[in-house]
Amino acid sequence: MNKHTFFEVVQLNKSFGGLKAVNQLHFDVKEKEIFSIIGPNGAGKSTVFNCINGLYQPEEGQIKFKGEELIGKRPDQIAQAGIARTFQNLELFAHMTTLDNILLGRHKSMKASILATVGLSFKRSKAAKEELEHRRKVEEIIDFLELEAARDQFVSNLPYGKQKLVELGRALALEPDLLLLDEPAAGLTQEEREDMIFWIKDIRDLLGITVILIEHNMQMVQNISDRILAINFGTQITIGTPEEVLNHPEVIKAYLGEDLPSTL
Ligand SMILES: Nc1ncnc2c1ncn2[C@@H]1O[C@H](COP(=O)(O)OP(=O)(O)OP(=O)(O)O)[C@@H](O)[C@H]1O
Ligand SMILES: [Mg+2]
Repeated sequence: MNKHTFFEVVQLNKSFGGLKAVNQLHFDVKEKEIFSIIGPNGAGKSTVFNCINGLYQPEEGQIKFKGEELIGKRPDQIAQAGIARTFQNLELFAHMTTLDNILLGRHKSMKASILATVGLSFKRSKAAKEELEHRRKVEEIIDFLELEAARDQFVSNLPYGKQKLVELGRALALEPDLLLLDEPAAGLTQEEREDMIFWIKDIRDLLGITVILIEHNMQMVQNISDRILAINFGTQITIGTPEEVLNHPEVIKAYLGEDLPSTL
């Protein structure tokens, strides 16, 4: 049997004007891996995610998910194919409850207007049944992430750590096979960060979801990753186990900024 790679990025290129934000990037992710992408600010990490989920159109390359080419598809089609994501800066509806924010994640195109149609859809029994199923799933996620106390609160009233969890819940609501997390622990306290590590491991171990993680906190990356891809200037420095990558001289150099002029 010809078994294709679960997820594969092949010679990906994405430029903004003269800037090569992603440059001949190549990597693959195995099913049920926790795979991290690290690199200094501006290395191109979020741009890779934006290419994967269809927000940006790369100029060259391939992005293959279970053998299917994603380039050229719209974000909602890519979501439909089973890829969910969270954003570096929270993309929640502040004046909606935790429950409604997660419910939005059930609707693959992420349009606020969908919620307005929820009430109407009860008029039709098939739609009502579907809606009940959506709500059941959302309750399951609230349960899973222990968000009961936040369930009916406006997201704007929640501590930042809880808001990050709501965003995670919204992505899980899609029931993805692949989850892209862009700095899920940024801005969290040490305790919240430890909780986030626990949730991400549970998502992989209990839900069987493959995770690609962008993260700056090296302790977290080391603790959680099966493999790490280190990039700088949009291109690979090295790829391997946490031990291999975090001790790699070029990775250390990139982080220390040794190649920068001393005047900067
Ligand atoms: N929409 C855009 N238009 C122009 N330039 C962009 C755009 N998006 C990203 N860039 C540029 O591409 C480069 C890579 O940005 P990207 O956001 O991918 O970096 P990053 O690795 O996620 O950094 P950080 O760790 O700070 O989040 C940067 O130089 C950035 O300014
Ligand atoms: Mg980024």
